Amino acid sequence: MKHPYLMTPGPSPLAPQVKMALGRDIIHHRTDEFRNILKEVNSGLKYIFQTENPVLTFASSGTGAMEAAVSNFLCLQDKVLAVSGGKFGERWAEICRAYNLDVSVLEVEWGKSPDLEDIKEILDKNKDIKAVYTTLCETSTATVYDIEGIAGIVSNYPAILVVDAISGLGSDVLRTDEWGVDVVVSGSQKGFMLPPGLAFMSVSKKALSLAAKASLPKYYFDVQKSLKSYEKNDTPYTPAVSLITALKESLDLIKQESIEVRWKEFSRIARALRLSLEEMGLAVFSSSPSSAVTAASLEGAKAVVAKLRKEYGLSIAAGQGKVADKIIRIAHMGYINAQDVAAALFLLEEALKKTGYKIKQGAALKKFQEEYYV
Ligand SMILES: Cc1ncc(COP(=O)(O)O)c(C=O)c1O
Repeated sequence: MKHPYLMTPGPSPLAPQVKMALGRDIIHHRTDEFRNILKEVNSGLKYIFQTENPVLTFASSGTGAMEAAVSNFLCLQDKVLAVSGGKFGERWAEICRAYNLDVSVLEVEWGKSPDLEDIKEILDKNKDIKAVYTTLCETSTATVYDIEGIAGIVSNYPAILVVDAISGLGSDVLRTDEWGVDVVVSGSQKGFMLPPGLAFMSVSKKALSLAAKASLPKYYFDVQKSLKSYEKNDTPYTPAVSLITALKESLDLIKQESIEVRWKEFSRIARALRLSLEEMGLAVFSSSPSSAVTAASLEGAKAVVAKLRKEYGLSIAAGQGKVADKIIRIAHMGYINAQDVAAALFLLEEALKKTGYKIKQGAALKKFQEEYYV
């Protein structure tokens, strides 16, 4: 029987406790029973987001929260900065343009973390920039950005800092309040071990003061309206009851293990994986590698990814955009652990060998054993 391994950087596998919760009977949302679940979920989200600020939950994919993080804080023609070093940085710029904002884009070489001096220079020249949009883990290149450094700069200016942590949250370190990040957005289908369908957004006081003046159109994704309900452990519209019930299980699992332990664990897995891929003869793509996903350069990546899925049931990802056929990406987030990564390395080696790539046979797994299981 073929055993499916889902190791794409979203969606990622569901925890068994999550699957059980998803199978429960649905309950009505305007009840104390559901409000109690929401109360616990809201507190668990604060922990995962490492913030004392409210974390709102929307029924959408992560991009819904990205859009909300634009429409809620700005007025027509406001100046913003989008940091773009991959598909998801590009998405920030696209959303901002869709709302007719005055968008400056800091183009970052794919696979690199942004240069802090470049951000400072743009903000020095444009003190009226109202928001800086960036990414924790740029999933398309498996690159983690120095959010602590970026926050250290942005906090000296009037702008708010908005971070897309849709793939990074739970694997890459993010200390929202300690670093001074105003808005963090995420989604359910990666580090949370849930299916797609929920988006999250934490909102600082500085961001809320902008929300009070923001005139861009919005209806469902209205932060102020959502906050009024949030304070009563309620939601303005019908919430995704089953997903939120399952989210409680996932938050409990993460809390039991602790976010700090998980950060260390994913960083250890990621490091061992990078060394193993190199031992196999593949080059790691990013110079600032994420702990949520790893990318290795591979010409003809799409065919290898297709072979892995068809013949072995292993789903990893090829690249996106201009590196679509040039890299493979292996996720280590949410419910994925070291054993899964070892299996992926083994199957990748098989697929590469059978496709005619020259790789050092057996070297990767040996390295993974030496580096991880020490
Ligand atoms: C960093 C990042 N931002 C945004 C998104 C888009 O999220 P969604 O597909 O849930 O709308 C993704 C999904 O892959 C992502 O990894």
